[in-house]
Amino acid sequence: MNLKGYLLCFILLSFFSLAGSETMKNVLLVCASFNGTTNEIAVRIKDVLEKEGCQVTLTTAKAESLNVTQYDFIVLGSAIHGDNPHSDILKFVDDNRIALKNKPVAVFAACATIASSKESRRNHALVYPDKVANGLNPVAKTVFAGNIKSAGWLVNLIGAWILGVKPGDYRDWNKIDAWSKSLVTIFAK
Ligand SMILES: Cc1cc2nc3c(=O)[nH]c(=O)nc-3n(C[C@H](O)[C@H](O)[C@H](O)COP(=O)(O)O)c2cc1C
Repeated sequence: MNLKGYLLCFILLSFFSLAGSETMKNVLLVCASFNGTTNEIAVRIKDVLEKEGCQVTLTTAKAESLNVTQYDFIVLGSAIHGDNPHSDILKFVDDNRIALKNKPVAVFAACATIASSKESRRNHALVYPDKVANGLNPVAKTVFAGNIKSAGWLVNLIGAWILGVKPGDYRDWNKIDAWSKSLVTIFAK
């Protein structure tokens, strides 16, 4: 290879490494869980995003002194209890509202009723991501079916009758992976 060839290789290599570093996104993933199973979803999202080349900081919504401004993207997730997200995630949004309004934010909720046999209950569950967003305008939002633990035969019976959901682990890891990957495309825009 002559000098021109080496020069061309150098320029091409520099171009591709620069292009690569530009797509390396710094993501903050904030999660609020009552019984831990939504945290497992967050860990899975983190793994997928990292495999796709993002740098991810996963933290609970309770964590203090988080500098939201240093991240390119924020992902917020919460389990749902009593028709509402965890108060920690709502507080996190309230405490960081100004910074979050200037960032692309994606949200997810984990709940039981999105796995309900009753259509009205599944439709109702679609409002949960907006509840997690707590007034923000997310670039992506979704509801995952969660892990519904048994709460004794009577509560289980009432749950099955009124909510149309029996206890069980309804988490669909393929759906979680697919949503996580779709975020990378959104982040790249
Ligand atoms: C006390 C309690 C209340 C719940 N309330 C709701 C609810 O209002 N709507 C819903 O869709 N799921 C509800 N769920 C289901 C949870 O959102 C679901 O099990 C979720 O996966 C729990 O996540 P976690 O393990 O991270 O807390 C409730 C579960 C429990 C134990």
